[in-house]
Amino acid sequence: MAPNENRSALVTGAAQGLGAAIARRLHADGFRVAIADLNIDTATALALELDASGATARALAVDVSDADSIHRAFADQTAAWGAPDVLVNNAGRTVRSSIWDITPEEWDAVLRTNLRSYLVFCQLAGSAMRDKGWGRIVNMASFAGQQGGLVTGAHYAASKAGALVLTKIFARELAGDGVTVNSVSPAAIHTPAMGSDADAAEIGRTLPVGRVGTAEEVAAAVAYLVGPDSGFVTGSTLDVNGGVFMR
Ligand SMILES: NC(=O)c1ccc[n+]([C@@H]2O[C@H](COP(=O)([O-])OP(=O)(O)OC[C@H]3O[C@@H](n4cnc5c(N)ncnc54)[C@H](O)[C@@H]3O)[C@@H](O)[C@H]2O)c1
Repeated sequence: MAPNENRSALVTGAAQGLGAAIARRLHADGFRVAIADLNIDTATALALELDASGATARALAVDVSDADSIHRAFADQTAAWGAPDVLVNNAGRTVRSSIWDITPEEWDAVLRTNLRSYLVFCQLAGSAMRDKGWGRIVNMASFAGQQGGLVTGAHYAASKAGALVLTKIFARELAGDGVTVNSVSPAAIHTPAMGSDADAAEIGRTLPVGRVGTAEEVAAAVAYLVGPDSGFVTGSTLDVNGGVFMR
């Protein structure tokens, strides 16, 4: 039996960008994949593309900024395929703004979407994984959470720094139960948010490796962390950043 067969993965923010690349990669690696997103039409299109029968891919409507919506989506997913074996917390708002312009309301909204959602999903999935004695959680963080970021706002950077420490806390809680919890910290990945190919090439020239990264390279990092060879890796952060930040 292939290592990931009979395992299911829930990927948030999977309708586009990094989340869609992660969903595609995990599906190709043998996982059944729940494509969770606010944008249910795009999530449904991807699920149908991966498996029109719905047996190994399904769209899941969720607004991660709303804890009740997360609870409903998790219950829906659990009723369909059982609690997920793999959780990838990826949905988030990438927000640019000056630290001098951030209102308290905007601060709360970004933290609610980008960080509180990770807490609620980790609580739900982590306790189910603990009961099963196996699980993998990956929290999508960012270079911004390590170094403050280049163009993104302080609320975004703070949410990603929070994701990094939340990863360590859940990792410690679940280490004895066969559940690993890790982060991936990307920077300068070529998604639509980056602009045109020319913009990406210009940004790439400023990086040590001389190019921007691809969504598939981030997905490969996630695939390692949720796959069969990473059971001794927990509480870590895998930097996928072209060498822009080295620790
Ligand atoms: N692209 C990069 O270079 C980069 C770098 C560092 C970190 N990241 C992180 O990677 C993750 C994905 O980034 P991306 O570039 O693919 O972003 P993106 O904006 O292309 O995609 C984000 C996805 O999340 C969904 N989403 C947003 N708010 C939601 C909500 N409230 N409920 C449910 N779904 C919601 C969107 O519909 C979308 O499908 C984010 O957490 C981001 O912070 C990206």
